[in-house]
Amino acid sequence: MEKKIAVIFGDGIGPEVTRQSIQVLNAVAQRFGHSFQYTYGIMGADAIDKTGNPLPDETITTCLAADAILFGAIGHPKYDNDPTAKVRPEQGLLKLRKELQLFANIRPVSTYPSLQHLSPLKSKHLKDVDFVIFRELTGGIYFGKKELSDDGLTASDLCTYSKYEIERVAHLAFQYAQKRRKKLTLVDKANVLETSRLWRKVVQEIAQQYSDVTVDYMFVDNAAMQVIQFPAHFDVVLTENMFGDIISDEASVLTGSLGLLPSASVGNQTALFEPIHGSYPQAAGKDIANPLGSILSAAMLLDYFQLNTEATAVREAVEWTLSNGFVSKDIDPVNNYSTTAIGELVTEHIIRHAGEESSNHGNQHSSTII
Ligand code: IPM
Ligand code: MG
Repeated sequence: MEKKIAVIFGDGIGPEVTRQSIQVLNAVAQRFGHSFQYTYGIMGADAIDKTGNPLPDETITTCLAADAILFGAIGHPKYDNDPTAKVRPEQGLLKLRKELQLFANIRPVSTYPSLQHLSPLKSKHLKDVDFVIFRELTGGIYFGKKELSDDGLTASDLCTYSKYEIERVAHLAFQYAQKRRKKLTLVDKANVLETSRLWRKVVQEIAQQYSDVTVDYMFVDNAAMQVIQFPAHFDVVLTENMFGDIISDEASVLTGSLGLLPSASVGNQTALFEPIHGSYPQAAGKDIANPLGSILSAAMLLDYFQLNTEATAVREAVEWTLSNGFVSKDIDPVNNYSTTAIGELVTEHIIRHAGEESSNHGNQHSSTII
């Protein structure tokens, strides 16, 4: 198979973790006889430094011409600490999501037995944790009108959703639930917010088309608690943009490290794959960041290309590093391996196991992107 992958390194640890993923994808190409061609675009603080624009038009063109996008991370402290900055790195990612209509952000959360001791939760709560968050990504408060009064004393962010915006992500989530344990939880704040009441109404309507899926409804404050107390309860979680942002970071503590979680953002055009972690500027350039969130995002990219055996090979290699203690500093502050060392171990595992194609497609960390 020949595929073109647009790579955006982004900021902070973005370049170093993404480089490991490229190496892993090259190993997959070598082992399975594919050809992946990479094109490069810039975004975020990196792009602001180079062009003044967090998302230059050329980057959008590069992304649209590719079969998938692999993205690192975004953000720089010099903007975080300056609330008056007019141009911000994150605007680049938000604009890219909007331009490519990446309306569904898919964030799988599952725990690894070898890492359970790292979670602040007791192991008994971590058993059978395997859920997927479908976060709406191009609407809501992130994209509503933003205002700051002339005197600088009042600000507002408008949260708007249309029926259409809710329907398209809800259908994906229901279809995904059908392939899993057939359970969907809508997380909202319908006791307070009009937008949430619309979400509930639309999801109730759509649910009738998916009668094999059991639906439950949960207020976001309760969901924040349940995700920690009874994480195994969840299968597919459907939610709006900001609730999904918050709940997914919260859910990452179940796994033991935010550095492990991958994500896929899909819409009608090119899909984008990125770890859910941020740019972790304190670690940038130190070769200590965890590359597995990015590498597992590359596995999701392979699933998206329907290369499920290849994706499984990547996940097996990742699980092998974790269960053998080849882990980064976020996981083990004492005995740890560098970003590049872990990338190489994953890569070598993939090459070394050539010819041993696993038929284990249903393992708990596998996922098929719609
Ligand atoms: C994420 C990030 C982004 C978001 C930021 C960097 C704009 O936190 O992808 O979860 O809030 O969506
Ligand atoms: Mg986030």
